[in-house]
Amino acid sequence: MKYLQNTFFSDNFNLLFDNIKNNSLIITTKINYLSLFQNHSFLKNFKNSKVDFIVINNSKIDINNIKIIFNDIRNKSFSNLISVGGGATHDLVKQLWDKYRSLDFNKKKNIKLIFIPTILGSGSEVTNFAAIWNFKDKQKSSIVIKNNYIYWIFFINSLIVQNKNLFSKKISIIDCLIQMFESIWNINSNTQLRNFAINSIKALIIDLEKKDFLELKTKRDSKKISIHSYNSGYLINKTKTSLCHSISYPLTNFFGIPHGYACAFSFFAVYEFNLNNRENNLIDVKKNLDEFDTLNRIKKIFNKFKINYFLKNKIDPNNLKKIIKFMKSERSNNNIIKFSDKDLLLIINKSIKNLDL
Ligand SMILES: [Fe+2]
Repeated sequence: MKYLQNTFFSDNFNLLFDNIKNNSLIITTKINYLSLFQNHSFLKNFKNSKVDFIVINNSKIDINNIKIIFNDIRNKSFSNLISVGGGATHDLVKQLWDKYRSLDFNKKKNIKLIFIPTILGSGSEVTNFAAIWNFKDKQKSSIVIKNNYIYWIFFINSLIVQNKNLFSKKISIIDCLIQMFESIWNINSNTQLRNFAINSIKALIIDLEKKDFLELKTKRDSKKISIHSYNSGYLINKTKTSLCHSISYPLTNFFGIPHGYACAFSFFAVYEFNLNNRENNLIDVKKNLDEFDTLNRIKKIFNKFKINYFLKNKIDPNNLKKIIKFMKSERSNNNIIKFSDKDLLLIINKSIKNLDL
């Protein structure tokens, strides 16, 4: 596989540590700080080095808080900015890194941005956009990070990523899967990206069908999940997400449904809407996916994860109707087929029905 420019994979902790033990600022969440840096013998080394920490509250990562956190770092001096966490942390750190470098770009342009993912799937460690919530307005917006973006990605071994609870890993990997599909039915896609997406989807399905894959007991499985996350991030970095994501945001906002499962809500209906439409150029894609029995295999995975059961408990169909107007966004405009309000309503109704299957 061809990796993005300036992208490095490593599970060699010593190599990472030697590179960053001086002059680094680590931004991480309270939960990760406690589990990785306080109790984890492997990472305790950081505590004895010249590494500075900023510990943030995971539930407070929103656009209004960036300024407060930025005030903490603007006078610090460091040559590596390290994000330890999941997608929300990485997206926050990307914005801080961008802001920090713009204080004096000539001096600060080579500051490295390093991601240590503690949960994998969203692919945010490889995208150059940073999505962030505005809790007050209940809106999620996305900015693109430009300026000579340097990626340094270290997928440290299973000791870190297996730490997370299974539910978080399920949510994240479903996001990963749906993002791959969103890169297919997307106006920004092309044949090459679609082929890459199809192969990525198949590889991910095969792993998710294994009994204990998400336990990430082996180094091999940890490496594999990092590749799935990379593939998903690589794809949406090119195409951006689409309709399932757009529908998901109010579900997260109003019903508190975690991101990956909120995207799963409309997946089958959107799949049908896009791939059963003969007017677009996805006939070969559909044929290829059908030959792999893709939909049935994904249904079984959703059942195994009890996704419908979870969504049914969270979604009140009557209230759902009231929030449909929030489901259209810049992301939904990426959908390959233009849809009307009536189409959207049909997709939502079908998705509610699908919860009973
Ligand atoms: Fe996502």
